[in-house]
Amino acid sequence: MALADYKTALVTGASSGIGAAVVTALRARGISVFATARRIERLEALAAETGCTPLALDLRDTDALYDTLGGLDVDILVNNAGLGRGFEALFEASREDIETTLSTNVIAAAHVLRAVVPGMVARKCGHIVNLGSIAGLYPIKSSIYGASKGAIHLLSQNLRIELQGSGVRMTEICPGRVETEFFQVAVGEEAAKKAYSGFEIMVPEDVSDAILYALDTPWRVNIGTIEMTPNEQFTGGVTIVPVARD
Ligand SMILES: NC(=O)c1ccc[n+]([C@@H]2O[C@H](COP(=O)([O-])OP(=O)(O)OC[C@H]3O[C@@H](n4cnc5c(N)ncnc54)[C@H](OP(=O)(O)O)[C@@H]3O)[C@@H](O)[C@H]2O)c1
Repeated sequence: MALADYKTALVTGASSGIGAAVVTALRARGISVFATARRIERLEALAAETGCTPLALDLRDTDALYDTLGGLDVDILVNNAGLGRGFEALFEASREDIETTLSTNVIAAAHVLRAVVPGMVARKCGHIVNLGSIAGLYPIKSSIYGASKGAIHLLSQNLRIELQGSGVRMTEICPGRVETEFFQVAVGEEAAKKAYSGFEIMVPEDVSDAILYALDTPWRVNIGTIEMTPNEQFTGGVTIVPVARD
């Protein structure tokens, strides 16, 4: 199954950033796309530009999620919606930050898969793309967000095994820093400016290009994990910080 064999897609988190770039790229390849997020005015603007079908939905409303997505027959699922509240330290996060991040990034992502994947399995045709992060692969000083994306990493790896013999392909994309609204939502406007300055970071189209590459490989290939960072961003290493004790 190369991209030319797929006809329909669902992209979550389509109102900005990576999701909007994926919708645009898929529409340019002639795929019919259902684009979902909470901000309907953004989706309508994207629909006017690309011809996608907007679906307003708060993914944390599980009943609405199944009502809206349960009946969709799609060949491609880009399970992309996510955020990073309480990004900087667990012990400084509010109770709400913890709930919001885990319920959006993990619980809602799992329900989206449960709503959509049975149809793919029944039709023996499908390609799932989960948005992980380098934060799910390495410690980057972000416990809650890292935990959510670490969960997506192992969810993706296990799902690939569960899908054996189904014909449904499974790809996880683990980006480093990308210029989207992610950091505004995570840490606010001012702190976000710092996150996006000082080095050349990736743009959403870099990630959508990687997703299109994975979707476009021939049926005999499954691209399991793509890890991509800005050229000037690095992961790993050991830090020593002595603590001044009384
Ligand atoms: N930017 C980065 O540096 C980076 C790096 C690695 C991984 N990622 C991952 O990439 C994915 C896309 O993020 P982005 O960078 O493109 O950020 P973004 O521009 O903030 O986009 C996030 C999207 O998620 C949607 N969303 C959030 N909560 C939702 C909810 N409860 N219901 C429905 N939709 C919801 C937002 O739409 P509404 O607000 O309109 O609902 C928005 O469309 C996320 O999973 C993120 O963790 C980002």
